[in-house]
Amino acid sequence: MAVTRTPLIAGNWKMNLDHLQTVALVQKLHWTLRDAGHESDSVEVAVFPPFTDLRTAQTLIDADKIPFALGAQDISTHDSGAYTGEVSGTFLAKLDCRYVIIGHSERREYHAETDEVVAAKVQAAVKHGLVPVVCVGETAEDLEKFGASAVPAGQLEIALAGLPADADVVVAYEPVWAIGSGQAATPAQAQEVCAKLREVVARVVGEEAGVRTRVLYGGSVKSANIASFMREPDVDGALVGGASLVADEFAAIIRYQKHVGV
Ligand code: 13P
Repeated sequence: MAVTRTPLIAGNWKMNLDHLQTVALVQKLHWTLRDAGHESDSVEVAVFPPFTDLRTAQTLIDADKIPFALGAQDISTHDSGAYTGEVSGTFLAKLDCRYVIIGHSERREYHAETDEVVAAKVQAAVKHGLVPVVCVGETAEDLEKFGASAVPAGQLEIALAGLPADADVVVAYEPVWAIGSGQAATPAQAQEVCAKLREVVARVVGEEAGVRTRVLYGGSVKSANIASFMREPDVDGALVGGASLVADEFAAIIRYQKHVGV
């Protein structure tokens, strides 16, 4: 089954930048790409600011016709009601969010999100027409004990259970030991696990979904290493943390196709 998967370069801002700083970064990123003659059709760009910035980002993207998709960093399993502090997928959809990150290792670790909670959030996202960016990955200890792919593959299997065959999802392989450490996985490691995760998508959601679903790598991605990941056949993009907060650096990551040797 021949298919072209549009590469996705996604910036997870985590808990950084207020709504005023959001304006500055989105504008600077847009101008930098425009001035460089970047062809926006070649790569999809998505930004994931904190909840309090989403309305600002939405308004700016809409007013200036900026070709970036918008995403949130989390979603409630509930639609509405007495859930203090939670944010419903209904609200995210109203803000033109296309994506929502689910199951990031920081939420699994600091907010005790289990695989079952992650699965419920995936269902909530799909219900509201949002594309879940399902994050999976092994810790350094898991890596030592089980190898690289067993833990992320198991997490993904639970997260995707029960999705319809036409579900639109993105998978992000983020080894926990590579996040914010400056020590990225090697392209070969990323390829091996991303290929395994694609097999899980094919088995759990359906063969066609396995072919069309984008699998991203995340963990210490920067302009100096992005091209080497994107050369791998099963790596369809990147989920970028720290480097997505600096307009010039994130623009250089987005423009990986222009890097020497690509
Ligand atoms: P860094 O790019 O800062 O390592 O973060 C990766 C990440 O967690 C993206 O979701």
